[in-house]
Amino acid sequence: MITIDGTSGAGKSTLSCLLADALGYHLLNSGLLYRALAYLLLQDNAIDRLDNIHLQKLAEQLDVHFRRTTTAGCYQVEVNGIDVTDKLYDPACSTLASQIAVKPNVRAVLLDKQRMFRQFPGLVAEGRDMGSIVFQDANKKFFLTALIEERAKRRSIQLQETMFHANVHNIERQLAMRDQRDQQRAVAPLKPTEDMVIIDTTYLSRKDVLDNMLKKVLETKE
Ligand code: DC
Repeated sequence: MITIDGTSGAGKSTLSCLLADALGYHLLNSGLLYRALAYLLLQDNAIDRLDNIHLQKLAEQLDVHFRRTTTAGCYQVEVNGIDVTDKLYDPACSTLASQIAVKPNVRAVLLDKQRMFRQFPGLVAEGRDMGSIVFQDANKKFFLTALIEERAKRRSIQLQETMFHANVHNIERQLAMRDQRDQQRAVAPLKPTEDMVIIDTTYLSRKDVLDNMLKKVLETKE
């Protein structure tokens, strides 16, 4: 069981995908569960989208299927049977996902859904609380960070690929707000624990980070 936590745009999605492929493990991108829930919320006409009872019911009914693909995104995501992959990185969806992620009852429902991904021969799980809360007994825990300017640049390139208009300064502002919300929430705040290996990816290539992680994983196995 390997966990990768860290801030948005630090490289978690790409690296978790590469690491899972290198090891032949299953993969969980937990942020996509929060995004899928946000997508469903944006679809319905609730008067108060952040109403706790409504949110909890939606979370319990959430039917998400991930299909691995060979493209950079790594996943095709189906919510209630419909492919919504291209919609989940819409800025409105990103903001709402971060807002619902502060809700303890939503996190509690998603906890069980995330743990069900743990299957033989192994799982690489990425998110904000994978090593600190969801899979506390993981064999290896990583925490990825990068300077916010670099993260905004990466997210802007990713958004352009999915055809959303992206202004790098706006993205940087939104990232800073999401970082603050993720780090300061009362339940499962984003922060490295003592047993995590911290990697700053700002000046590293994907290959450098992957090699570094594989080395650490193999050290653990020995
Ligand atoms: O990793 P991401 O940007 O796709 O995640 C979307 C949002 O979901 C993010 O603002 C924080 C939240 N999230 C979380 O609170 N806990 C996780 N394990 C994963 C994501």
